[in-house]
Amino acid sequence: MKILITGGAGFIGSNFTHYLVKHRPDWDVTVYDKLTYAGNLKNLELIKDQIKFVHADICDQNTIDEQIAKNDLVVHFAAESHNDNSLLSPWPFVETNIIGTYRILEAVKKYNKRLHHISTDEVYGDLKLDDPAKFTPDTPYNPSSPYSSTKASSDLLVRAWIRSFKIQATISNCSNNYGPFQHVEKFIPRQITEILEGRKPKLYGNGQNIRDWIHTEDHSSAVLKILEKGVIGETYLIGADGEKNNKQVIELILKLMNKDSDYYELVSDRPGHDLRYAIDSSKLREELGWKPKYTNFEEGLKNTIYWYKNNRDWWQPLKDKTEIKYSKIGR
Ligand code: NAD
Ligand code: TYD
Repeated sequence: MKILITGGAGFIGSNFTHYLVKHRPDWDVTVYDKLTYAGNLKNLELIKDQIKFVHADICDQNTIDEQIAKNDLVVHFAAESHNDNSLLSPWPFVETNIIGTYRILEAVKKYNKRLHHISTDEVYGDLKLDDPAKFTPDTPYNPSSPYSSTKASSDLLVRAWIRSFKIQATISNCSNNYGPFQHVEKFIPRQITEILEGRKPKLYGNGQNIRDWIHTEDHSSAVLKILEKGVIGETYLIGADGEKNNKQVIELILKLMNKDSDYYELVSDRPGHDLRYAIDSSKLREELGWKPKYTNFEEGLKNTIYWYKNNRDWWQPLKDKTEIKYSKIGR
């Protein structure tokens, strides 16, 4: 199997590439990545001899055509992925997430290749804090931010290309990931590295917003399951029943890093901040037989903290720039 992984130098894409090299050692793997501020070749250093790397933009139709033509299968992780950035500067989100996905769809259509499109549960908008409901594949799309609306747009393009042009594609919408190689702009790595830098973690608003956390290795195993067993045209929701509010996550990080439970700062809230995400992954579990390995969040978080403690040279070069950006918006 020859597989092209877009965005494979980013957080989830690089974790997936590691997972694939380990679990499908006979596959021929090519990572395709623009290496934006979020892409990092160090993420692939340990497996660099087992993969090929193409440094290019998914919006470049000629290059994406050429690479898709050479492969059997495309897994499309490449995206602008951070909500706070999307509020400051939406254009790269429109360009990469919408136009880039369009370019991939056109190439997949032209060369009749199998596509798996990676998306987020944020396309469904948010749930009330006290609502027992979870997102299902039938939940109507109702995105809130420039990030989630551009991801929703990309999903709708994929659905339209499946219906109109019969392309061989599947879609997955996953909840919030954590684990190694996640950029320090995101919630969990930001707080761990703030503590390692001797500063207090930063909690937006009142800290009651809920996210449904999944370890990135469980996301990888779910994507491989869909690639091998998923039904063409279907959408699968990926989640591991990991709902926690942000304050609970910070308190757990503080406990695991031996700090007092009130060692954090409340900062201004994110505009339009989604209240709660929660995934019902029963379709993936029942129809494809997937189950997560990291069911103990505390254990997964402990491993993640250990990784950031031991990989300061990976995150330190990103840290100052990220915090300068946050200080400009008072968060
Ligand atoms: P990330 O920001 O860490 O990585 C994105 C990668 O895409 C980077 O390597 C970047 O260089 C690359 N890229 C960006 N624009 C590109 C372009 N125009 N051409 C080629 N490469 C480009 O993101 P992530 O957190 O790893 O997310 C990966 C995917 O998973 C995204 O599609 C995201 O929407 C989705 N997702 C993320 C989460 C999460 O919790 N982070 C949850 C569910 C779904
Ligand atoms: P984030 O990692 O940006 O993911 P998303 O916006 O896709 O859910 O944020 C996760 C949650 O943490 C979200 O509710 C915003 C909140 N948050 C903070 O409270 N403090 C922070 O410093 C950051 C970056 C996020």
